[in-house]
Amino acid sequence: MKKILVTGGLGYIGSHTVVELQNSGFEVVIIDNLANSSIDVLEGITNITKTPPTFERLDLRVKADVTEFFKEHTNIAGIIHFAASKAVGESVENPLLYYENNLHTLVYLLQECRAHNINNFIFSSSCTVYGEPDNLPITEDAPVKPATSPYGNTKQISEEILKDTCAISNLKSIALRYFNPIGAHKTAEIGELPAGVPQNLVPFITQTAAGVRKELSVFGDDYPTADGSCVRDYIHVVDLAKAHVIALQRLMDNKNETQFEVFNLGTGRGSSVLEVVNSFEKTTGEKLNYKIVDRRPGDVISVYADTKKANEVLGWKATKTMEDALESAWKWEQKIRKKKE
Ligand code: NAD
Ligand code: WQD
Repeated sequence: MKKILVTGGLGYIGSHTVVELQNSGFEVVIIDNLANSSIDVLEGITNITKTPPTFERLDLRVKADVTEFFKEHTNIAGIIHFAASKAVGESVENPLLYYENNLHTLVYLLQECRAHNINNFIFSSSCTVYGEPDNLPITEDAPVKPATSPYGNTKQISEEILKDTCAISNLKSIALRYFNPIGAHKTAEIGELPAGVPQNLVPFITQTAAGVRKELSVFGDDYPTADGSCVRDYIHVVDLAKAHVIALQRLMDNKNETQFEVFNLGTGRGSSVLEVVNSFEKTTGEKLNYKIVDRRPGDVISVYADTKKANEVLGWKATKTMEDALESAWKWEQKIRKKKE
């Protein structure tokens, strides 16, 4: 059984990936400091896979602890690095937190990779690196635009750090550029757990339907899109999780074409905010209270992936629909509300 380290493995995307790794026969060790997750997620994962992953509560910013971890845990065949801070607005308020948490942690991990000859490294990047794209759908060779937030900047710099490290070592790395992950596991054992008021669309929708929020604000209906609201490529988190297992296997089998590779992970379909709202109402039968408000500063107009490279080179394709994702997100929201009662 190959042992894989998943950092941020109790977080939203990490937890779904741990499930897919275990279901594919990998042994998983999770590092998480619970900064944006709950220890209960461990139970959720175990309820699905019937196998508790090893868990180390550890802050990756503490270099000595990271070094100690790799002394204790030997024979790690690969790393999937999710741990990071991810709130765009917060990164503008507190850039140093983002540069420390998203960059120092990557450097410390890569230093350990070199020390322990761990050569397979999957990194969570983001479509945010493309900014407002010149052409749609977005291919991987579209230019990386100057970042509009410290968060976005950390993803660009991280990719550079990985590329430079691959160039001078045996490290092989894949940066996966996620579009907009949504949904939850179909069992409702794990899902997204936004802290405070959700910034992202789908958790705001489900919390509004659950009565936690009064109404959803739709940020703008005067964009140059079909219905005037912004367009994104919403991808089911379970599809996304599966791509990590495929990417890891690609590196472990030495099937990568270059030492550093980049893939878009999206569906290739663009959906507007209003389409998501309508789809949620239709799928769940819930009426959603919403109003159109001003544009949100910093929002790009329209973003969706060209998935050709992921489909043909990586051998991965999203299979789940928007309805699957919204149904699972709603089931998950209802479950966490019940738990809180
Ligand atoms: P998340 O916040 O749910 O998960 C991140 C996990 O990392 C959390 O459990 C958190 O406690 C942990 N963590 C953070 N800093 C840590 C540290 N210093 N030491 C140990 N653990 C730490 O986020 P997510 O949505 O699952 O995102 C995972 C990754 O994917 C992040 O790198 C994020 O930037 C990237 N990403 C997310 C999205 C999205 O919309 N969710 C889109 C593109 C990229
Ligand atoms: C989606 C659409 C909003 C909330 C962010 C990060 C990006 C990436 C994914 C990590 C937009 C609209 C939202 C609401 C709304 N994360 N919206 N009312 O902005 O595409 O991307 O998450 O890498 O870096 O910026 O996602 O879910 O916030 O918004 O109308 O209450 O929904 O304007 O058009 P976004 P989102």
